[in-house]
Amino acid sequence: MKIGTPLSNSAIKALLLGSGELGKEVAIALQRYGVEVIAVDRYPNAPAHQVAHRSHVIDMTDTAAVKNLIAQEQPHFIIPEIEAIATQALLDIEAEGRCTVVPNARAIQLTMNREGIRTLAAEQLNIPTSNYAFAQSFAELQAAVDGGIGYPCFIKPTMSSSGKGQSMVKSADELQAAWDYAKSSGRVDTGKVIVEGKIDFDFEITLLTVRAKNEHGDIETHFCAPIGHRQESGDYRESWQPQAMTSAALSAAQDIAFKITDEIAGLGLFGVELFIQGDNVWFSEVSPRPHDTGMVTLVTQKQNEFELHARAILGLPVDTAMQNVGASAVILGGIDAQGVTYEGLDKALSVPTSEIRLFGKPEAFVNRRMGVALANAETTDEARTRAVKAATMIVINPD
Ligand SMILES: Nc1ncnc2c1ncn2[C@@H]1O[C@H](COP(=O)(O)OP(=O)(O)O)[C@@H](O)[C@H]1O
Ligand SMILES: [Mg+2]
Repeated sequence: MKIGTPLSNSAIKALLLGSGELGKEVAIALQRYGVEVIAVDRYPNAPAHQVAHRSHVIDMTDTAAVKNLIAQEQPHFIIPEIEAIATQALLDIEAEGRCTVVPNARAIQLTMNREGIRTLAAEQLNIPTSNYAFAQSFAELQAAVDGGIGYPCFIKPTMSSSGKGQSMVKSADELQAAWDYAKSSGRVDTGKVIVEGKIDFDFEITLLTVRAKNEHGDIETHFCAPIGHRQESGDYRESWQPQAMTSAALSAAQDIAFKITDEIAGLGLFGVELFIQGDNVWFSEVSPRPHDTGMVTLVTQKQNEFELHARAILGLPVDTAMQNVGASAVILGGIDAQGVTYEGLDKALSVPTSEIRLFGKPEAFVNRRMGVALANAETTDEARTRAVKAATMIVINPD
């Protein structure tokens, strides 16, 4: 891999499609290797826009807009950070062979729709998942639940993320409301929902999995220590590393993560979401990119998930070793307002080992993630206590 000089003819250019807090860290990691970073999002002043060499605001679901921008910028790498992208543009651009879509266009297409990735995992790769069915009408949904999925179950739009449009249904009288909610809240209305039987897990993890080249140029698969997390309304609130689990469950988890990422292929970091009960492991979903729960690696690994992604993409060797036990706790907006202020940083940072990252998002929403608190300790319990304490000390107010 030869790296040029940013902003010159020799530059290696990376275009980030999606410029949130995860993209911001990927931009910083790439810039540390002298890569020229172009950040794209649907709104101005997104987190990665604020650290990139250049930025653009476009509708990333618009095939022509994505193609035009890529023709204008001619990046070597296109790095999707979000799911809602015009995948046809990426498939066409990849087929032209002039740049690398990370990890590849098929991966982006498969994972943006729950139907694609679920069918691949369960039906082609025989990986254990919850029972599931897809429904295009309320009658189909009712039939699928009555026909075996039963209650409790989860109803989700096939295209959505961060728990949007998702609900858990405990009894028949709640099904209609869940259907209406899923139909109205999907990012893109595919006309379909997925219904999944509830897995009664002991805990859930993200297994960060990296496909990177070794010094001989061969692709190897590396695993980070499992990250435990707590979700509320389908969105992550706290994560910690490592999550203790049996060695049988860990090897089953790594086996599943290997199978799914080997099938997806390409270079980069993946967040494999798994449910664990005793020695049993179920696959839930996978992100072909850094994962929100993986922000904890900012304080637990020498090479955090963003650095691992950057290295893997550039064809460089990686080291996934964990160095310190740690935890993360999210800082939510709490209000709907623009140009908010943050107070209490001094108090938050007096919690031992704590670190705070504020993402600088131009607009806060009640449940929007505006920052994250991080901490280390001897145990994950203590690290969680510290991270949560630091997070709650940040007070967000309208200007
Ligand atoms: N079938 C299921 N059984 C148990 N819990 C589930 C199931 N599906 C989703 N959940 C819970 O909801 C969270 C979000 O679901 P997920 O499918 O990951 O949605 P998203 O794509 O929005 O992240 C999961 O992390 C888990 O806590
Ligand atoms: Mg998820």
